[in-house]
Amino acid sequence: MSETASTPVQLTRKPHKPKSVPAPGAGKTACIRTFGCQMNVHDSDRMRRMILDAGYAEVPRYEDADLVILNTCYVRENAVDRVRGHLGELTRLRREGRLKKVALAGCIGAAEESETLRRQFGIDLVLGTHNTYELAEFVGLPTMEETYTPELPGTEGDHSSFVTIMTGCNYQCSYCIVPTVRGRMVCRSKESILGEVDRLVAGGTGYVTLLGQTVDAWRQDGERFCDLLEAVSERAPRVWFTTSHPSNMEDRTLRAIGERDTIVERLHLPVQSGSDRMLKVMHRGYKAERYRRKIEIFRESAPEGTLSTDIIVGHPGETEGDHEETLRLVEDCAFDSAYVFKFSPRDGTEAATLGEPVAPEVAQRRFVEVLRAVEGNALSRNRRKVGGVEEVYVRHGANEDGRAVGETWTGHAVHLRTDASPGEYVRARIDSAGPHALYGSVLPDGTG
Ligand code: 5AD
Ligand code: SF4
Repeated sequence: MSETASTPVQLTRKPHKPKSVPAPGAGKTACIRTFGCQMNVHDSDRMRRMILDAGYAEVPRYEDADLVILNTCYVRENAVDRVRGHLGELTRLRREGRLKKVALAGCIGAAEESETLRRQFGIDLVLGTHNTYELAEFVGLPTMEETYTPELPGTEGDHSSFVTIMTGCNYQCSYCIVPTVRGRMVCRSKESILGEVDRLVAGGTGYVTLLGQTVDAWRQDGERFCDLLEAVSERAPRVWFTTSHPSNMEDRTLRAIGERDTIVERLHLPVQSGSDRMLKVMHRGYKAERYRRKIEIFRESAPEGTLSTDIIVGHPGETEGDHEETLRLVEDCAFDSAYVFKFSPRDGTEAATLGEPVAPEVAQRRFVEVLRAVEGNALSRNRRKVGGVEEVYVRHGANEDGRAVGETWTGHAVHLRTDASPGEYVRARIDSAGPHALYGSVLPDGTG
């Protein structure tokens, strides 16, 4: 999954208080900062619901908050370094009396390193990924049931919602800390997922994203991910899913992406390396050729669709030959975008104990080469869209400069000027293209 740090959005909703219980947090403020993947964004939504239930108001700045919650990522070492930087700033604010409590949640919270951080920075509450409900108690809510239903997202009624369909991961990729901090795979029942989708759609959600570490590994009583996806695509007006694993990705799912009108033609399928030797060392469970075949099917099914991936450069033992194979795969698959990472050793993973480290300057060069190859492809693919007319779903409404961000049915990001609200559709002509986005203008007959 992609890694982002998102600044909190000021909520316009009123805090919703539990019936007949005076809100313990009335008059208090809280700030939630999210690092990492979409699973964390979703967990932050749940935590937001708890603090609002407790009567807290959400504020965007640390210095205005009584309680700060850092929802963290542990996937790479620099993610921990960033959180340390934030904890340092929070310690200073607390010394100045401008802040009262700090909670550390998410994947760092679930790792052993959280104990060291707790002591070093005097953190008040440490939460892993399986006990976020303890936050409810911490903010003074009488019982967890009143505020927290694991199956209910905090984004109900919003134009776009995440629905977690599975948690954890049964793979053991050499470099990855996720199975340690998120545990083994647990699939949520189809009934409960569809029930939630129906509630969300009835409440106004126009875009449902199915979430999980290996979302396409979902299964239940002989049914597989594609069955679930098809059922969801019949209930929701717009559907996407992330993150997938190539070993679980069925041709049937790839075809459904092209065939079903409500599924966004956008696939995120992490490949990690183009070298069979490295894929084996990483325990990915597939060869580059099989990955290429999946991509061929996706391109056949959705020729205009967007394809993104994750690639790690500089994994222990990676040779120049391996790197060249990755560059070749990037050319062949013509990704529309990719998250490229330099290998970062994580304690507790197999790769941290392997010898043959790749020198930092070599990893840096490989990183830049892969990135350039991806961007070159992406730019030429994006340019093909110029001059066309697209139906664009508005994801983020206009900023102060009047610029909004939307998404086409092929999963392209489009920057445009419009007053349309998030969740609305506009018709736009694509005027120009960059490597990361398209730039368009709303047609006179388009709304907004
Ligand atoms: N070092 C570098 N990148 C990593 N990823 C996961 N673990 C590591 C690591 N130790 C990348 C993978 C994964 C994405 C979420 O982060 O590419 O798909
Ligand atoms: Fe990590 Fe591999 Fe599981 Fe993805 S599939 S979460 S990279 S162990």
